[in-house]
Amino acid sequence: MSRRSEILAEMGLSPIWRVRSSPGSAPAEKMESAVGWTELKQAVPACKACSLHQSRTQTVFGVGDENADWLLVGEAPGAEEDRLGDPFVGQAGKLLDNMLAAIGLSRRENVYIANVLKCRPPGNRNPEPDEVAKCTPFLRVQIDLIRPKLIVAMGRFAAQTLLNTDATIASLRGRVHAYAGVPLIVTYHPAYLLRNLPDKSKAWADLVFATKTMASLS
Ligand code: URA
Repeated sequence: MSRRSEILAEMGLSPIWRVRSSPGSAPAEKMESAVGWTELKQAVPACKACSLHQSRTQTVFGVGDENADWLLVGEAPGAEEDRLGDPFVGQAGKLLDNMLAAIGLSRRENVYIANVLKCRPPGNRNPEPDEVAKCTPFLRVQIDLIRPKLIVAMGRFAAQTLLNTDATIASLRGRVHAYAGVPLIVTYHPAYLLRNLPDKSKAWADLVFATKTMASLS
């Protein structure tokens, strides 16, 4: 079974997957080519795999260039993201946009932004392990479709989920890791930086490191 097939099988949530898996339909290996952005964008808003669907206003799929070299991964939508349907549109998002601008990037061009969770945890609590487990297949398909050159995991949940580790951000920074063969760099979450201003200089160092790493890949 190919990696995409494995991911999709794991999703088990996708109506497309279920419909096409019905008796008499195309075999699974053929089906995977049918699951692209369109199907994923239908599957995410329809998802009821965890209890977060009960409290969400809407799912927050992700935003940006679907062929981007840069993929930034955050944790989960907050109140503003839940209201507007786009990731990082609140205070943390403004900081993220400024950080991107400082390295000559914008969320509209060559950058894609997604979260580990597509639904807002009530009261902005931390994601629960079962929510992460149920939602991560969506992110994995997004990564598979984007095929970025570099992933920047922002914060503990993104880093630990994508690297399958419980190591701290501090111990993961400053090195190039890999997610499914894609280079991955870890930095602090913008919301954390809003509360811990002295660590902004460390995040800046991470972005400079990421820029140099990207240049070495091109
Ligand atoms: N924090 C995140 O991790 N993601 C968002 O989209 C907004 C805030």
